[in-house]
Amino acid sequence: MMNNKMERALPLQKKAIWKKLQNHKIRLEKTDIIDLFNKNPKRFDEFSIQQGEFLLDYSKNRIDKKAFDSLIELAESCHLPAWMDKMKAGHNINHTERRSVFHIALRAPADEVMETEGRNVIPEIHEELDKMETFVKQVHSGEWVGYTGKKIIKVINIGIGGSDLGPYLTTQSLRPYWIEDIELHFVSNLDGAQLALTLEGMDPETTLFIVASKSFATLETIYEASTAREWFLEKAEDNEHIKHHFVAISSNVEKATEFGIAPENIFRMWDWVGGRYSLWSSIGLSIALQIGMDNFRQILAGAHAMDKHFFEADFHHNIPVILAMLGVWYRNFFNYDTHAILPYDSLLHLLPSYLQQLDMESNGKQLKRNGATARYATGPIIWGETGSNGQHAFFQFLHQSETVVPVDFIASINTHYPLRDHQSLLFSNLIAQSEALMKGRNLDEVLENLSPDSPDYDHQQLIARYRTFPGNSPSNTLLIDKLTPYNFGSLLAMYEHKVFVQGVIWNINSFDQWGVELGKELASQLQRDLLHGEHMEDHDPSTTGLLKHYMKVSD
Ligand code: F6P
Repeated sequence: MMNNKMERALPLQKKAIWKKLQNHKIRLEKTDIIDLFNKNPKRFDEFSIQQGEFLLDYSKNRIDKKAFDSLIELAESCHLPAWMDKMKAGHNINHTERRSVFHIALRAPADEVMETEGRNVIPEIHEELDKMETFVKQVHSGEWVGYTGKKIIKVINIGIGGSDLGPYLTTQSLRPYWIEDIELHFVSNLDGAQLALTLEGMDPETTLFIVASKSFATLETIYEASTAREWFLEKAEDNEHIKHHFVAISSNVEKATEFGIAPENIFRMWDWVGGRYSLWSSIGLSIALQIGMDNFRQILAGAHAMDKHFFEADFHHNIPVILAMLGVWYRNFFNYDTHAILPYDSLLHLLPSYLQQLDMESNGKQLKRNGATARYATGPIIWGETGSNGQHAFFQFLHQSETVVPVDFIASINTHYPLRDHQSLLFSNLIAQSEALMKGRNLDEVLENLSPDSPDYDHQQLIARYRTFPGNSPSNTLLIDKLTPYNFGSLLAMYEHKVFVQGVIWNINSFDQWGVELGKELASQLQRDLLHGEHMEDHDPSTTGLLKHYMKVSD
């Protein structure tokens, strides 16, 4: 008989609990979610959780109590508590980059002690926050002026991936908190069109550039920043003026200085902040400029509250753990490949893109921590769109295709923009979709509603099958009282921890991203070849053909 310790040391698919879950899946495969409700009138209470201003309803999932308990047992069997302790204790859990993963420290209060590499990092984090605060106040008050003495009114954040998506999503989501005399833009794409269009009509005298790059080595960011510098100097002429218009956020102070950023204009970040986990650091400078430092601190406080919940709540009542384990359930036992994020809140329109990076750059991997290939599925494809827009685009697929897609519906109950009955209509649509996905509609129900007196009766009978829905599609619904900076911080921290938990179950390192390297290396070689018209034949025939065509057609 195997004891607990031995069971825990086994590879994922060899664990008894894994086999137990496979049996639960077989048992539940033929069960409709609606029947689980019929059998258990308390199902909503048992499979929903309220935490702060969040209500998570996960009752519309293909689980029952036994399967759910087994999922939690799997989390324990995969040493989740120990991994959480390691994260909290600042251990190098990002082993391939020899770094700790300590974004949780960025949102901890000033009186906490959080150590990594033998150092309490909280004082330096708060020092940097204070530096941000001073800068933000100077810009807002007009104390910080451009080289001709004019107030800064436009800010352009140049960055990509985590140095763009987090701040971009945050400022879009918190539109009601904007400080209106600052106009903020984001430039991320290498495509010159984005920068050219952003600069159109801007005045170098009143524009501030934030060059946001942890490494200060990302091709897109550095190239765009140098184009921006050129544009600026065309009018300002003197390099001395750069210090009034360019600030940087980086852990690579040397490179930022080399670029020409004044040392006092460099906001620090640390190696232990992953790019996609960085909006809580000085990468959030654009956020603070747009919504004020107090609101930025509220975002941190909300994230910290979710951290506390994650580290302290037992797994049966732990929102990130529950979401993560349901994801594992569908990915590994039902073999569902994708997961949709459907915010019924247009302010959250960038959430699916943000979560694509967070989830897919973290868990889109097949090598386990020991370097061996995981012979099971890992992170799903994340996609989505706001409701109700999505209803008129891909919901057809969600309802009637053969492919099942688990979804997260997200809504804030109290809107910042009350307008007639828009909010209740929007909410009714969300609920209608989750209900329809679960219940579906069978042929009898369609036929029952046909009236033989209708002139169209024959045709309606003929097409009755097209109006059936298989149903039994799982969904989570997260309702937030209101989309405040605090709740927004909690929301993102919730997904961060979900992704971390899944990485632990799959035994992968969620915090590196080696998969982005090869393309970067090839691109820089190809760029040299294109510029010099060399080595065209050194590639595969397709690549050679494309390069030659580009050379032929480009002006
Ligand atoms: O896409 C790879 C990546 O390293 C992301 O993880 C990161 O968010 C992005 O590039 C930008 O990196 P940096 O902030 O160093 O410019």
